[in-house]
Amino acid sequence: MTPRPTAVQLQEFRSSIWDYYQHHRRLMPWRETADPYHIFVSEVMLQQTQVARVRQKYGGFLQRFPSWHELAVARLADVVQQWQGLGYNRRARFLHQAAGEVVSRFAGGLPADQQLLATLPGIGRNTAGAICAFAFGMPVVFIETNIRRVFIHFFFAGRYKVSDAQLLPLVEQTLDRSDPRQWYFALMDYGATLKARGSNPNRRSAHYSRQPGFEGSRRQLRGAILRLLVSGEPLALADIAAAVGEQHAGSLESVLSDLENEGFLAAEQAHYYLR
Ligand code: ADE
Repeated sequence: MTPRPTAVQLQEFRSSIWDYYQHHRRLMPWRETADPYHIFVSEVMLQQTQVARVRQKYGGFLQRFPSWHELAVARLADVVQQWQGLGYNRRARFLHQAAGEVVSRFAGGLPADQQLLATLPGIGRNTAGAICAFAFGMPVVFIETNIRRVFIHFFFAGRYKVSDAQLLPLVEQTLDRSDPRQWYFALMDYGATLKARGSNPNRRSAHYSRQPGFEGSRRQLRGAILRLLVSGEPLALADIAAAVGEQHAGSLESVLSDLENEGFLAAEQAHYYLR
């Protein structure tokens, strides 16, 4: 059940968030722009990577791929290379594909439409919402990890297994329609500080799951293989096996085959290379 705060409680909540933001807002390069391409790139990077790391990669990525068109016509291998350090390389491929679709389906102009944006590869309802709010100033309703933390903290004290469906009506009721863009920045900053303070209300989210272990995982192996191949030199299975080490021997061939099926890799004359 979603609680029903009184008008006064809603107003106090809004004031707390704005007040915090006034004194402690975080400056980020993607908050200084309304360019839909720049915002799209930043939001995909921020899906699963910390702000500090995204700061290091964002400028270089945009320098290398300054527009939808330049990203769309790039080789995937070059996009993966620029993506190194951000993790979860699938997102590099989604971003590359999304650029292709923006050019082909939308003539290079990102639509200001949450539902339509959510049809692009790698873009769910929430990322689509963030893009609508930040690029187009639209009063859309969405949740991301920091926002989730804020609403659980304020409205679900002592409750467990809180679902996003329970939070969404509150996100909608409290949304500052006069400035959705700054409002959502403010929520995100407040949520980030809740995490930094040590209590993590997201543990009480129904959607909470700890990141699976990295050491020895398939994800680690995927990253290691792509890192080996970004230099451009094709490698034989034996070379890759030697480089990634014994600990990955059991899953190497199946991970290579995943990467091939996903379109990252190709093999020719028993050598693997990035597409
Ligand atoms: N500012 C804009 N988008 C953001 C995000 N996804 N996370 C944190 N800060 C942001």
